[in-house]
Amino acid sequence: MAIRRFSEKKLTGEVLKRIRGTKNPRLKQVMASFIRHMHAFVRDVKPTQEEWFEGIKFLTETGRLERQEFVLMSDTLGVSMLVDALNYKANAGSTESTVLGPFHRQKAPRYALGANISKNRGDGIPCRITGTIRNLKGRPIAGAELDVWEAGADGFYDMQKGKAMNLRGIFKADAKGHFHFRCVRPEFYPVPHDGPVGKMLRATGRHPMRPPHLHFWITAKGYKPLITHLFVKGGRYLDSDAVFGVKPELIIDFKKGKDGAATAHYDFVLMKAK
Ligand code: BEZ
Ligand code: FE
Repeated sequence: MAIRRFSEKKLTGEVLKRIRGTKNPRLKQVMASFIRHMHAFVRDVKPTQEEWFEGIKFLTETGRLERQEFVLMSDTLGVSMLVDALNYKANAGSTESTVLGPFHRQKAPRYALGANISKNRGDGIPCRITGTIRNLKGRPIAGAELDVWEAGADGFYDMQKGKAMNLRGIFKADAKGHFHFRCVRPEFYPVPHDGPVGKMLRATGRHPMRPPHLHFWITAKGYKPLITHLFVKGGRYLDSDAVFGVKPELIIDFKKGKDGAATAHYDFVLMKAK
């Protein structure tokens, strides 16, 4: 059997030919694009063998960590926001989405409206959030569910410190689409930077900080789920978020209430599911 002579120029085509039998058309498209882009990347960068193994070592380390380091890599390289931008196109009037991040947890505690999601009283500056959940026609979405989570005043999410749930909870909007809950005023904090992503940030002259924010995942029957944040107006790092998640529409004023709590109000607008 004649063995074809290796040719650097023809290699990409050879690899593409080899996947012609892929049955799933979407997988075939994704694989072909990946192969073409990877080969183009290597032709562009011309890595030495040592550099190529360095890259593989970096990815291996990223996968070895128990935490979601690949999510963090996607976030810090702007890829998560790109995927979001291509998939969640806010209609005029609906609330903008942003990154999910690695700190959402399934089965957060369910609370009655008005509850405090912080289990450590005295932790951080007390905060109260009120708002409504409406549709594009301005009608309240009764019973919409609002899953909220935040880092503590020390800059850590509960899961970075142990197994106990804290600073997160699920609320159900009332018949008028209203919700309100207590929390701690969000502070800026660094994304985890003691692993491969931290190494990459330092090597490229970047900081790991995120501006102060609260996370929301809002769901309601018949509506497109909304994953978003609210950012604190005037907070640090709004213009250089390590994960590129800030949108001006999501920056809101936190005012000092009569009881001293930082108070903010926001009306979320959901789009109908297709
Ligand atoms: C967060 O805000 O929780 C987050 C988002 C992206 C990467 C790391 C953290
Ligand atoms: Fe966060």
